[in-house]
Amino acid sequence: MTDHRAYLEAKRTVDDRALNRRVLERFEAILAARSAPVRIVELGAGVGAMIARLAAWDRLPADVVYRAVDRDQVSIERARERVPEWLRANGYEVDRLGTGSDDEGEHSARTTFVAHSGERRLEITLEVADAFAIEDTADAVIAAAFLDIVSLEEAIPDLEELLVPDGVLYAPITFDGGTTFAPRDPIDDRLEREYHRHMDDVRPGGGSRVGRRLLTQLPGAGWDVLEAGGSDWIVRPRDGRYPAEERVFLEHLLETIDDALAALPEPALDSADRQRWLERRRGELEGSELVFVAHNLDVLARRC
Ligand SMILES: C[S@@+](CC[C@H](N)C(=O)[O-])C[C@H]1O[C@@H](n2cnc3c(N)ncnc32)[C@H](O)[C@@H]1O
Repeated sequence: MTDHRAYLEAKRTVDDRALNRRVLERFEAILAARSAPVRIVELGAGVGAMIARLAAWDRLPADVVYRAVDRDQVSIERARERVPEWLRANGYEVDRLGTGSDDEGEHSARTTFVAHSGERRLEITLEVADAFAIEDTADAVIAAAFLDIVSLEEAIPDLEELLVPDGVLYAPITFDGGTTFAPRDPIDDRLEREYHRHMDDVRPGGGSRVGRRLLTQLPGAGWDVLEAGGSDWIVRPRDGRYPAEERVFLEHLLETIDDALAALPEPALDSADRQRWLERRRGELEGSELVFVAHNLDVLARRC
């Protein structure tokens, strides 16, 4: 079994390539126009890769208060180790701030760091919490690879509650109905349909086409979609090896697909076909031949 947090760390370089730069530039410009300190809340932040990325890419304004929440305690513990390391590697000085009874060491619900680089100040709180049980008044909410695993109908009113009246939602890497592998296998199309059926009918919340649903449901709920663009994941070997930790990303993904198919009622594929497919894909991964493409959308929207 691959570890979910190792998967999230391995996903970082895949997302780095995939993120739609046009959508990100608009988000950056909107943040830059807000008065300091700019308050950002990230939901389902995982191991904190987005904080590190935005800081490393200089996409944040000079004075930011960033609250990152995830309900998975182990992910937040990992973020507490990795985020300061990633920031220091990018020239930030990082100090841990005591937050009284909230900050009681390794397993505390909430830890705050302050990171400085030149004139930049970034205050980061990493917190174990349910995204839909927190209160805040943020200039921006970030939900990366998150809205496709929760109920959109329930999430949209909660997002409105978290934002100032003209605040923005940045929802990058929202899955949008494409899971493909190369070289092709005769059961790939059926397998993709079955995997997406699991997201739509079995998994609680989310779905296989949330990216495009955001483009209609947000305006339907009175939001203005400011930008949207593709952010497809493309993972392929280069010079006989996968970049960074991307082999771990693919191992985890194959496992996730197989688990999803095994949980389907009335499966369209029999278990021998599934097993053959999995062994073939693991063999191709081992031989650094497997190519994976998934379709995602990045969406930037303003409450209005
Ligand atoms: C696919 S991961 C994405 C993590 C991170 N945003 C990234 O892109 O690397 C989804 C994350 O959402 C978290 N999550 C799911 N439901 C949640 C909820 N109701 N409240 C807080 N976090 C939640 C999971 O624990 C997981 O870390």
